Amino acid sequence: MTTQNPGLFIAFEGGDGAGKSTQAAALAAALESRGLTVLRTREPGGTPIGEKLRSLVLDHGHGHIDAHTEALIFAASRAAHASQVIRPALERGEIVLTDRYIDSSVAYQGAGRDLGTDAVRDINHWATSGLQPDLTVLLDVDPEVGRRRRTAGDAAEDRLESEADEFHARIRTAFLDLAAARPEHYLVLPARLPVEDLAARILERVEVLLPSPQGESMSVWDDLQGQPAVVDQLRQAAQGEGLTHAWLFTGPPGSGRSNAAKAFAAALNCDQEDVSRRGCGECAACLTILGETHSDVAFVRTEKVTITIDEARDLVSTAGNRPSSARWRIIVVEDADRMAERTTNVLLKAIEEPTPRTVWMLCAPSPPMSSSLSVPAAARWRCGFRPRPTSRRCW
Ligand code: TYD
Repeated sequence: MTTQNPGLFIAFEGGDGAGKSTQAAALAAALESRGLTVLRTREPGGTPIGEKLRSLVLDHGHGHIDAHTEALIFAASRAAHASQVIRPALERGEIVLTDRYIDSSVAYQGAGRDLGTDAVRDINHWATSGLQPDLTVLLDVDPEVGRRRRTAGDAAEDRLESEADEFHARIRTAFLDLAAARPEHYLVLPARLPVEDLAARILERVEVLLPSPQGESMSVWDDLQGQPAVVDQLRQAAQGEGLTHAWLFTGPPGSGRSNAAKAFAAALNCDQEDVSRRGCGECAACLTILGETHSDVAFVRTEKVTITIDEARDLVSTAGNRPSSARWRIIVVEDADRMAERTTNVLLKAIEEPTPRTVWMLCAPSPPMSSSLSVPAAARWRCGFRPRPTSRRCW
């Protein structure tokens, strides 16, 4: 965790009218119903001095406020918020949900007011002594939709909300750029999705970051039961040199083959220096891979009947890139049996001539995956998981 605290720090960000407060409230309720202690807070504000600064900077009627002054007022409010409210709560082990944090300043003052995103980030880094969220939920909203939502029922707009649409468009781009630069720390969702869908997806992502119920740390392997020999094989492969570049995980639907592939992916890119601890289930790499938000690990899960040839070509081009931060670029294809012959050929060619830092993991009911896959090609793949019909959770 970036906070290095026992608690969990989550920021909600997005343009005006994105629905952040609704989602923060829904998440707080879901977490509290599990007996977790949640602190909900907001910026600007969150402390007595912060609330005063909020009214100074947002209310109309204080005369002209130049952009630098505005940025410093937000940063001052945040400094108090971080040191007096957020940090102490994290140290107590609580879950802190804040409605806006540093990214709002980077987007609104850095990009919207044109002060420069780096400069604004740096003063806020200083103001908060580097306190960063573990996860930022970015609700991406079209500026026009945002304006319609927030002015519904004749609600008055504050000083920033009433800026032109073009200002809000710059802010939207800045938020998306921040998320793209550190994707493992972000969950980006379109704000137009139904409220319940958004809430479910946010909770799903946050669950990965929660400590295990007994407060014990769980490695990624603990969830895989029933085939210790296969788990051992994967564990050793994750620790060793000379890794095979293509793996086939076989087993009937619901058998856990995709969980096995995901655990293996986490172990391969785990942040632990000590190879015997690879797949620790605690580091940022393990958590983001299990949460499917790691920038170097792609999960291909088609809801359509087949993976199209264009999708396969996109995959091959992604697979050709070097990993951006991790040891391996990993592509997990969950429905590898749902490919037409032409598509299979595109993938096979890439798999047979893999780029040095790329690992393919294909999940399918049985090898060979379909009649279109030639047996010799399948045989060249190392079969990680075989069905074990006698096991309750068989792979
Ligand atoms: P917000 O509290 O989300 O608005 P409301 O609760 O009224 O819907 O944010 C207030 C405004 O302040 C919003 O337009 C965004 C802006 N803002 C910045 O410009 N910079 C910042 O650092 C923060 C935290 C907010």
